Amino acid sequence: MTARSEHVTIGALTVDDADRCAELENLLFPGDDPWPTAAFVRELAATHNHYVAARIATELVGYGGISRLGRTPPFEYEIHTIGVDPEYQGRGIGRRMLDELLNIADGGVVHLEVRTDNEPAIALYRSVGFTQVGLRRRYYRISGADAYTMRREAQ
Ligand SMILES: CC(C)(COP(=O)(O)OP(=O)(O)OC[C@H]1O[C@@H](n2cnc3c(N)ncnc32)[C@H](O)[C@@H]1OP(=O)(O)O)[C@@H](O)C(=O)NCCC(=O)NCCS
Repeated sequence: MTARSEHVTIGALTVDDADRCAELENLLFPGDDPWPTAAFVRELAATHNHYVAARIATELVGYGGISRLGRTPPFEYEIHTIGVDPEYQGRGIGRRMLDELLNIADGGVVHLEVRTDNEPAIALYRSVGFTQVGLRRRYYRISGADAYTMRREAQ
């Protein structure tokens, strides 16, 4: 069986995945303050967050998270992060995880930040209805790269 035809399942990210997430962060966001294991452990413990995992058999090949903002409805949401192992990018895994996160947002407004030079992610976000609403200069602390803020209206 080729890697491309292997079956990808989307499910819950757990604390047991935190080390592997940190490993993927280092691969995906070098120089942009990749989250360490402890950051994943902390975020997974927060009840207002929801994290998803993409797996091939038992291997974690992608992860993503969304946070519910505020304490009272109508709630707005923020995508924290989404990442796919470079070996498995470009085969629909990122889109499937993002769809899952947007289902959690249940029609509420969703916000996110993305590096202005991150064309694959920007294309993915636009394709599900996000639009650019602002520019945050030097948003990424270590690299100093700029970010777009993007917003998806309630739907
Ligand atoms: C962004 C990311 C999560 C997308 O995951 P993926 O599994 O590779 O994406 P998919 O195969 O599901 O593709 C979904 C859409 O993304 C866009 N896309 C993906 N790869 C692309 C590329 N190389 N160039 C342009 N657009 C691309 C397309 O719009 C694509 O839709 P299409 O297949 O209908 O054309 C992945 O590239 C990644 O992990 N990047 C590094 C981490 C990162 O930058 N995360 C976002 C931080 S804000």
